[in-house]
Amino acid sequence: MDILETAQQRYTTKAFNTEKKIPQAQFKKLLEVLRLSPSSVNIQPWHFFVAHTTEAKQKIAQSMQGQYSYNATKVMDASHVVVFCTRKNVDDAYLEQLLEQDEKAGRIKDEKAKQTQHATRAGYVEYYRNTRKNLPEWLKNQTYLALGQFLFAAYADGIDATPMEGFDYQQLDQDLNLTDYTSVVVVALGYHDEKDFNAQLPKSRLETDVIFTEL
Ligand SMILES: Cc1cc2nc3c(=O)[nH]c(=O)nc-3n(C[C@H](O)[C@H](O)[C@H](O)COP(=O)(O)O)c2cc1C
Repeated sequence: MDILETAQQRYTTKAFNTEKKIPQAQFKKLLEVLRLSPSSVNIQPWHFFVAHTTEAKQKIAQSMQGQYSYNATKVMDASHVVVFCTRKNVDDAYLEQLLEQDEKAGRIKDEKAKQTQHATRAGYVEYYRNTRKNLPEWLKNQTYLALGQFLFAAYADGIDATPMEGFDYQQLDQDLNLTDYTSVVVVALGYHDEKDFNAQLPKSRLETDVIFTEL
């Protein structure tokens, strides 16, 4: 499908068909797209929890009670669910891990290049931690980039999805035993049901001249 058609047709699914499951190979491919998401200085501050069994989905839906209960059914009826989590902080050990990965991938030609790579990444982290004073927000922004890529890729590959911020993140963090990470968004995936009212609604977006300015 053309990229514009994909963007025009993708939408947030409000009800899933409980009978239809995403083939495992296709889901694995989608996770690989997620792994390849870009991030500032390749900081990759994310971790993803994946669920497809009733028990695993229940663990996630537990954080969707009270004001968030409208999202619980989507999680339980979906074929697969992915919880996007983000790092709260970056320490030296993590910067070292990233550097080792760069080296393993064959992107570092010598010791000088290694030091430059490390200094650039550490410099950005320091800038957001000490100058901008919003390191956790910067880290979270990167995880939302991965969300955008994931939603687009899923629909392009014929999979319906629901991104959800409507959940109790403290509850979910506790249920997932998170300490160094925090949950930011839950994505339910599968195939929409006949009773999905949103499938028929037209898209609503601000007009081109409102959001673009040619300089
Ligand atoms: C980060 C994020 C969080 C969202 N949270 C919810 C949610 O908790 N429940 C829900 O039903 N829809 C949720 N949505 C869906 C939005 O309402 C939807 O994307 C928006 O209205 C645009 O419509 P469209 O996705 O159908 O094009 C969320 C979307 C995003 C991107």
